[in-house]
Amino acid sequence: MDVFDKCESAIGPLGQYANQAEGYYVFPKLEGELSNKMMFQGKERLVWSLNNYLGLANNPEVRKADAQGAADWGMAYPMGARMMSGQTRYHEELEQKLAAFVNRESAYLLNYGYQGMVSIINAMVDRKDVIVYDSEAHACIIDGMRLHFGKRFVYPHNNMENLEKELRRATKIVDKTGGGILVITEGVYGMAGDLGKLDEIVAFKEKYNFRLLIDDAHGFGTMGPTGAGTDEHFGLQDQVDLYFGTFAKSMAGIGAFVASKQSVVKYLKYNMRSQIYAKSLPMPMVIGALKRLEMLKNEPEHRKNLWKIVNALQSGLRAKGLDLGVTASPVTPVFLKGGIPEATQITYDLRENYNIFCSIVAYPVIPKGQILLRLIPTAIHTLEDVEYTVKAFAEVKQKLDNQEYKLEMKAMTAE
Ligand SMILES: Cc1ncc(COP(=O)(O)O)c(C=O)c1O
Repeated sequence: MDVFDKCESAIGPLGQYANQAEGYYVFPKLEGELSNKMMFQGKERLVWSLNNYLGLANNPEVRKADAQGAADWGMAYPMGARMMSGQTRYHEELEQKLAAFVNRESAYLLNYGYQGMVSIINAMVDRKDVIVYDSEAHACIIDGMRLHFGKRFVYPHNNMENLEKELRRATKIVDKTGGGILVITEGVYGMAGDLGKLDEIVAFKEKYNFRLLIDDAHGFGTMGPTGAGTDEHFGLQDQVDLYFGTFAKSMAGIGAFVASKQSVVKYLKYNMRSQIYAKSLPMPMVIGALKRLEMLKNEPEHRKNLWKIVNALQSGLRAKGLDLGVTASPVTPVFLKGGIPEATQITYDLRENYNIFCSIVAYPVIPKGQILLRLIPTAIHTLEDVEYTVKAFAEVKQKLDNQEYKLEMKAMTAE
């Protein structure tokens, strides 16, 4: 056998559709300005696929700060890992401002959310410790856990009864090993838009001894009275022991951070392998992030616009009988019944006949027989965009109910 054999024969649950789907359903090329309308295959489409929640991706002031950062520093600066030769006062300033924004003593930058989360988990637990986590945890949480030598227990998504059962089990184990318990959830679940039940999880702290880590990739900048995140929304910043946010969404950049007590952040600084053994975040990213954070703090209008669009879109779709599940965040999932053939037909119809571009999620990412069309409203969508989209989705639902979508996978190219 050759390790390359699998590349020919078993390209994986998603890869199996590559030949028919690539370039259209997967790896599509969206072109033009990052905005509510972009070009796809030569035609302008209304785009609901970008996690550009606050519309900062193409904000002129943000673009100016990014360009200035690159002009002043280039992409190379600083050279080396933070610990060796990659420390700057701008990295430190950004960390101080992030910590203040999320109401924590201290924060540390991560080059990417994904690797950062893997590394936070890896650093926080040793073989005596037990991790208890939600079954719908993001891949970065799962991968962080794969490095863990101790026990890990999963509870069904947001099922608090089962969480308690696992906490009881974990407590028995750490009583013997002398370790601790780390509970991991997300603030906002990025597929269905529902929130981690932070209030109920935190309430277990009265009975069980554990630390809580939240991945708030979708909540940072969107949730809470000041946009400081899902724990701010719940009024529980003092109970969430480790807060993780990424710059990939509301901040429309790249990079991430973790925030906590000073001693914990100091420990992470000296133990997170993703940061010790990797080059520091480049200066334009840091300068750009400082600008974005200032806007998050001082320009609440972006968040207000976002929520105006979210509320109009979600109430409009619900009024037309579409099933949005239990979203409580800007993430707007439209659940329909069907398999991959219907999912591709609907996506094709939306793109070609309505010029609406949204993301499509089907089995194996979600259960068989379900289709999820995922809409991400942003601050730069308009109420006309919403009205048009609600009407289009109502028509699509009607067609699906009338079984108008043919049962074969639609060819990917536009005629
Ligand atoms: C819940 C969640 N955690 C972590 C990440 C990874 O963050 P990054 O894109 O900064 O690597 C993402 C996706 O971006 C995410 O949705």
